[in-house]
Amino acid sequence: MIVYLDNGATSYPKPKIVIDTIIDSLHQGSGSLHRSQTRNALNLERSVYDARALVAGFFNFRAIDHVVFTKNITESINLVLSGFLSDGDHVVTTTLEHNAVIRPLDYLKRKKNVTYSVVPLTLEGQLDYDAMRIQLQARPKLMIATHASNVSGDIVDINRIGSMCSEFDVPFLVDTAQSAGVLDVDFEASGATFLAFTGHKSLLGPQGIGGLLIKPGFSERVEPFILGGTGSVSESSQQPEMMPDKFESGTQNVHGILGLKAGIEYIRSIGLEQIRNQEKRLIKRFQSAFENDTRVRIIGNLDTNLRVGILAMDFLTMDNSAMVYELSKIYDISTRGGLHCAPLAHKAYGSYPRGTVRFSVSHFTSDDEIQYAIDAIKKILHQ
Ligand SMILES: Cc1ncc(COP(=O)(O)O)c(C=O)c1O
Repeated sequence: MIVYLDNGATSYPKPKIVIDTIIDSLHQGSGSLHRSQTRNALNLERSVYDARALVAGFFNFRAIDHVVFTKNITESINLVLSGFLSDGDHVVTTTLEHNAVIRPLDYLKRKKNVTYSVVPLTLEGQLDYDAMRIQLQARPKLMIATHASNVSGDIVDINRIGSMCSEFDVPFLVDTAQSAGVLDVDFEASGATFLAFTGHKSLLGPQGIGGLLIKPGFSERVEPFILGGTGSVSESSQQPEMMPDKFESGTQNVHGILGLKAGIEYIRSIGLEQIRNQEKRLIKRFQSAFENDTRVRIIGNLDTNLRVGILAMDFLTMDNSAMVYELSKIYDISTRGGLHCAPLAHKAYGSYPRGTVRFSVSHFTSDDEIQYAIDAIKKILHQ
């Protein structure tokens, strides 16, 4: 039995409808989006439009044509950072960010003289919103925040950040990699300017599909990241300005788009609230088995209402990577150790450079699997 507790990296299993939809789309010989003029291609055109509309509705975003498909959230974030920032701009971000944010920022710092400051955690381990407010008062070019930490699962109050950004007129980029598909992510309520998502985690789609929502009025202010054929305005040698073509050059991943659509439809059929409650219940049960164990330090908020479906543990009596290895080798349990591409977060939580073992559940994780993992960890700790 494989017990998969690495959904924070990528979700598994996928709903059957996602798999069937992708296989059907491969069987159907669909044509190339915006290029072919066959009946199949027109059907595909409609399905992709429906997928765009579904994504927009899912995130409470009104401008369907401003939903841009990318290959993952890393590409979406790079699109904004490389296309929106110019020489000398300043960016505010948080210590909880993934390298998908920090590495492009660091690159721009070296190549384009873009500066950035990082909002820390308070002594109580919460994001320091007061420090953030002071940073935002200086009106940086962009604020970037993750909706939930991939290290601890801690949920960030993006609506609060968005309202501060509106107050100081600062564009706001939200990273929903760990929240979309489990928390209600509302573009309007969050005050976001850019909302980036990835399809293969809690949205239950395949790998290779993600996207970006761009608030109307801002697409003109972002340079395209990849230029080329769009199937539109072909007589011109210039990249079209119209949306979403401006940011969707080259043959698109239609199989991924349709798989993502099926994933979101599946989530809708179950209901976000039910998914969230189930994940919370599983994590609470898991956590309660180790809360008073002095050999273990739990990272992040202890209140599971304040975390997505992640339990991050630092095993104090053994090497964390040995725990990951033994769980996999002896018990067939998949987890993820190390720094989770977010070294600043580990520094803030005091788990750098050891890292932690991250257990992350999905809607498909069962109570039996959690109990199996608890028993396995206890046996390894007793050895
Ligand atoms: C918070 C966060 N941002 C960005 C990413 C990058 O996601 P992707 O590899 O799908 O681009 C991840 C992936 O783990 C993440 O957890």
